Amino acid sequence: MSKIQAAITGVGAYLPEYILNNTELEKMVDTTDAWITSRTGIKERRILKGEGKGASHMGVEAVKQLLQKTNTDPKDIDLLICATTTPDFVFPATANLIASEVGASNSFSYDMQAACSGFLYSLAAASQFIETGKYKKIIVVGADKMSSIIDYTDRATCIIFGDGAGAVLLEPNTEGYGIQDSIMQSDGSGMVHLHQKAGGSRRPPSLETVQNREHYVYQEGAAVFKQAVVKMAEVSKSIMDRNHLTGDDVAWLVPHQANKRIIDATAQKMEISDDKVMLNIHRYGNTTNGTLPLCLFDYESQLKKGDNIILAAFGGGFTWGAIYLKWAYDIK
Ligand code: UT7
Repeated sequence: MSKIQAAITGVGAYLPEYILNNTELEKMVDTTDAWITSRTGIKERRILKGEGKGASHMGVEAVKQLLQKTNTDPKDIDLLICATTTPDFVFPATANLIASEVGASNSFSYDMQAACSGFLYSLAAASQFIETGKYKKIIVVGADKMSSIIDYTDRATCIIFGDGAGAVLLEPNTEGYGIQDSIMQSDGSGMVHLHQKAGGSRRPPSLETVQNREHYVYQEGAAVFKQAVVKMAEVSKSIMDRNHLTGDDVAWLVPHQANKRIIDATAQKMEISDDKVMLNIHRYGNTTNGTLPLCLFDYESQLKKGDNIILAAFGGGFTWGAIYLKWAYDIK
C-alpha cells in the first residue's frame, strides 16, 4: 500500500474589522510610521474589539469558513488542534470551545502552546495522527488575540502584534502530496528574552502584578531578533538540504511574519527570490499563531498542485522549526 501522508485540503481565515495603522500608533506612543516601516515592514494590524470576545471567536469564524469551503460536515472531524498563546481561559482549552461551537461533536480537541511556532508544531503533530491511518480529517487552527496581552504604552512591542486566525483541514493522501518532512526545535533558556511575567502558576495574578504591568508580553527585541534571524534561516536551509532541494526547487517560502528583516534573511540563506516569499506582515503585523495559515489563505489562489513549499517559524520559548510539504490541490 502507498504511504499515507497528511495533505492540506483547504484553508479558512478570519480577521477582525478594526484596523490599527501606524498613524494611529503615532498618537499612542513615541514612534513614527517611518521607524515602524523600516524596522519591521508593518503598516497596519487588526484588533478584535467587543466585550467577551477571545481567541475562540476568531477561531470559530475561520473554521466555519473552512468547513463551508471544503464542503465538510463538522461531525466528520476526528481531531481539532488550536495553536494559541492567548487562550480564552487558562482552562478549558480553546480548541474545546471552537470544536463545540462549530459542531465538531465527534472530535477530540486540545490546545498547543508553543508561542509563534505553535501552528507549525500543531501541523507536525496532526500529520503524525493522519499517517497512522486512523484519523481522516483533522483541523489545525492558529488563533491569537495578541491585543489582550500587549502593553500599549510600550513602543517596542505594541507596534508589532495584531489579532487574527487561520485554519487548515488535513486529510490523508497516498499520491505523494502533503507533508514530507518536519524539523521542530526548542530551547527553554530563551525564556528570559521573551515571556509574560505573571498570570501563570509561578506568579499568579495579584494587585501587585497588575499594578506592575506584568500581564503583558515582555520582549527584549534585539536579543530575540538575533536568534530568530539565525535559527529560522538555519532550520529552513537544513530541511532543504536533507530533502535535496535547491532554491529553484522551492515554489514558496511561508515564513512566520514577525519582522520583514527576519524574513529577508531567511529567504537569502535559502537562495530563493522575493517573489516566492509569502508576505502579509504589512497588513496584519505579527498575529503569532495566525501568521502561517493567514499567508496560505492570502496566497491560496496562486498555489499549484505539486508546489514545493517550506513553512518556517521562530518564537517564544524559544521554539522554532520548518515543514516541507507538497501542495495537494489547485483552486477550481
Ligand atoms: O514573533 C515572536 C518573536 N519575535 C520577534 O521575532 C521580534 C524580533 N525583534 C524585532 O523584530 C526587533 O527587535 C524590534 C522591531 C522589536 C525592535 O527593533 P530593533 O531594531 O531591534 O530596535 P531595538 O530594540 O534595538 O531599539 C533600537 C532603538 C532604541 O532606541 P535607543 O536606545 O537606540 O535610543 C529603542 O528605544 O529604537 C528605539 N525604539 C523605537 N523607536 C521608535 C524601539 N521601538 C521603537 C519605536 N519607535 N516603536
